[in-house]
Amino acid sequence: MKNIINKLYENNFLNEKELLYLLNNISPESKKYLTLKANELRLKYYKDKVYLRGLIEFTNYCKNNCAYCGIQSNNKNADRYRLSCEEIINCCSKGYLLGYRTFVLQGGEDPFYTDEKIIDIVSSIKSKFPDCAITLSIGEKSYESYKKYYNAGADRYLLRHETASKKLYDFLHPNMSFENRVNCLKSLKNIGYQVGAGFMIGLPNQTNEDYVKDLIFLKNLNPHMIGIGPFIPHKDTIFKNEKSGTLEKTTTLLSIIRLLLPTVLLPATTALGTISPLGREQGLKAGANVVMPNLSPTSVRNKYLLYDGKICTGDEAAECRKCIENRINNAGFSLDLSRGDNINWRRK
Ligand code: SAM
Ligand code: FES
Repeated sequence: MKNIINKLYENNFLNEKELLYLLNNISPESKKYLTLKANELRLKYYKDKVYLRGLIEFTNYCKNNCAYCGIQSNNKNADRYRLSCEEIINCCSKGYLLGYRTFVLQGGEDPFYTDEKIIDIVSSIKSKFPDCAITLSIGEKSYESYKKYYNAGADRYLLRHETASKKLYDFLHPNMSFENRVNCLKSLKNIGYQVGAGFMIGLPNQTNEDYVKDLIFLKNLNPHMIGIGPFIPHKDTIFKNEKSGTLEKTTTLLSIIRLLLPTVLLPATTALGTISPLGREQGLKAGANVVMPNLSPTSVRNKYLLYDGKICTGDEAAECRKCIENRINNAGFSLDLSRGDNINWRRK
């Protein structure tokens, strides 16, 4: 096992068979070694720095029906909301004073926000905070729309591929196509965004073979950011009685990703903090180097419910900022308040 981990560390590559062997046979002892090697690489490229992103969940309307997601359009119990451009700017202003230099605008796929509205929001933020990076996470759009948002000032785009197992993808995403998702990711890279892909862990019927497909997919796509986190059930979905993904599996996959793509920006996600009180700290120790505290107004935080048990729904932005800094320091890392771009990226 040690040999395989050394090979992964040295070559930043393993073939499918080797990845599957690693996932099937990892023991507590080899996991320790994997974590150690993953940490060596994050220290080499990013030192002990952890970057902050302020997350603004600006709409929980969505036209899609992803089977796992609490804000899917079929969920009649979801209490829907949208933030105005002014409300979004207010979140950014609060965040800016607290030191945030990246704003992540995330939402369901909500046709109310036409390209014109998104461009207006992006360019308003950019003109007020020219030293900040803007990340969009608003789903699948056309090449032309992505291009317009980029020209308006958006720098990064998060679009998880969710799972690279086509069969599982089709089952989870009615009326969507994996091919289109992949085409969107390619368009985003082509335009010049810093691109984030990623997947969920512990979905019903997901196997180690499926994770191997995700890892190979990511290695080939070579994105700048990778968001992975445990699946967590939501009470209004068909998966309400299913189990969540585990901390153990998520940290193993975080370390493997750090070794496969050493310079990637890798968040310790809120979902990881939800399944375990020290989940985000464990994620950082496994090789993650980004955290995304919530900047949404507290009045809407408990409406953007993708899964049950979401943390930090009642905390003001300032409390979150303080709490997260303490957590980062206590875990042995230091907060970096710069924009935190991927070291291989320049705006075209
Ligand atoms: N609509 C955008 C998109 O499709 O990329 C962004 C919003 S979407 C709600 C953000 C992410 O939440 C998804 O990519 C998915 O991986 C994650 N997510 C949704 N439901 C989840 C659940 N039940 N457990 C864990 N993560 C979930
Ligand atoms: Fe929000 Fe800790 S991150 S209170």
